Amino acid sequence: MQPTMEDLKQLVQPNRTHRRIYTDPDIFDLEMERIFGRAWIYMGHESQIPNSGDFLTLNLAKKPVIVARDGKGNIHVMHNQCTHRGAKLEGKACGKARIFRCCYHGWTFKTDGTLMGVPDKKGYDGTDFDIHDPALSLKQIRCESYRGFIFATLDDTMVDLEAYLGDAKTSIDNMIDRSPDGELEIAGGVLRYRHNCNWKFFVDNLNDTMHPMVTHKSVGDACAAYIKDLPNPDDYSREADIINPFGSSYEFFDEMGVSVGPYGHAFTGGQMSIHSEYRDIPDYMDAMHKAYGEKKTQQILSINRHNTIYYPSLTIKGAIQSIRIVRPISVDETEIETLTFRLKGAPDEMLQRTLLYSRLINSPSSMVGSDDLEAYVRLQEGLQSGGTDWVDMRRYLGREQHPDGNMTRAIGTSDISLRNQYAAWLDFMTHEDKKKAA
Ligand code: FES
Repeated sequence: MQPTMEDLKQLVQPNRTHRRIYTDPDIFDLEMERIFGRAWIYMGHESQIPNSGDFLTLNLAKKPVIVARDGKGNIHVMHNQCTHRGAKLEGKACGKARIFRCCYHGWTFKTDGTLMGVPDKKGYDGTDFDIHDPALSLKQIRCESYRGFIFATLDDTMVDLEAYLGDAKTSIDNMIDRSPDGELEIAGGVLRYRHNCNWKFFVDNLNDTMHPMVTHKSVGDACAAYIKDLPNPDDYSREADIINPFGSSYEFFDEMGVSVGPYGHAFTGGQMSIHSEYRDIPDYMDAMHKAYGEKKTQQILSINRHNTIYYPSLTIKGAIQSIRIVRPISVDETEIETLTFRLKGAPDEMLQRTLLYSRLINSPSSMVGSDDLEAYVRLQEGLQSGGTDWVDMRRYLGREQHPDGNMTRAIGTSDISLRNQYAAWLDFMTHEDKKKAA
């Protein structure tokens, strides 16, 4: 049964959330309508569709959509649905099209969605059929790009994208600044990883800094032991460089800090993060110095954030140049997509490091991400039981925080990121009810 506004307020309180929001299929359906159907949802990067006719297909709030670049170079997000009898129009995940042609009766559409042709058109003579009727073109969805990152919203009243991203957009800025040419380009394919859990467990985990030293202890300890036994402890592999910080202490993560902003966005880190101590790649430093000079390079690289969440669908690691996208499937299934960027003008070794990071941390064969997945699946199973109804998020409640632009900064192991996300969750979920009541 669909929950009322009063039910929803009971389920998300300032210090705890009810287990039902992770396990109830009716709540999941309402989230698709009210969160994924209203927020700015990440669609893809412009470099994935660089030329006219390039397209991607995906789901937005369970609706199939096409993201396409038209003949004039403009980007459209459109319902992936033929306007004849409603068949899903494009079946491929990505590709290049001159036109979109429906597989059922052959209606054709331009890459900007305009209806172009119908077979044996004389059959419509004498009817009110008009090939120029805008209602027969693919239905457009509001979309905007921020510096190459394409988002779409099904709500025409939502604030514009830049206002939605707020000061959290500086994480995107910093990732782009790390390119000597000031440009990013998706490199390689998409790493898709099905998680048997509710989408929120993945998002909750991104800035949960109380888990690495427990969940990832085995790999952290093994990595520390490997380094300790080396004849020269400074001469360890790139793999150890990447994994070692996951075994850091509570004090380290406290110092790293966390910032939260409007609409549920947040990032961990600031001047330092688990990526700060990665060893330099000399050719990259040379390219950066050449492009920006030493002072500006130092300024760019001194911004060191771990995960930034653009709630609810995108998370980026600017210092690593990888992103993960949250694609909810059902109440207990979520697809996580990892994509990696090439920093234009940087040596290939930078991309190699990014790809290695994805394999080690995010892939199904990862030594770190698979630990997290085990925890998410246990949460999904555990919260079915009713032994306890509540999920706690009280750590550092109301303490150790101060304003920072339009964001709020707190000690790194605070649960503030969870509290901020669930305040946004409740706001999205009750927005329609509040509008009706006003
Ligand atoms: Fe697409 Fe008929 S349903 S052409």
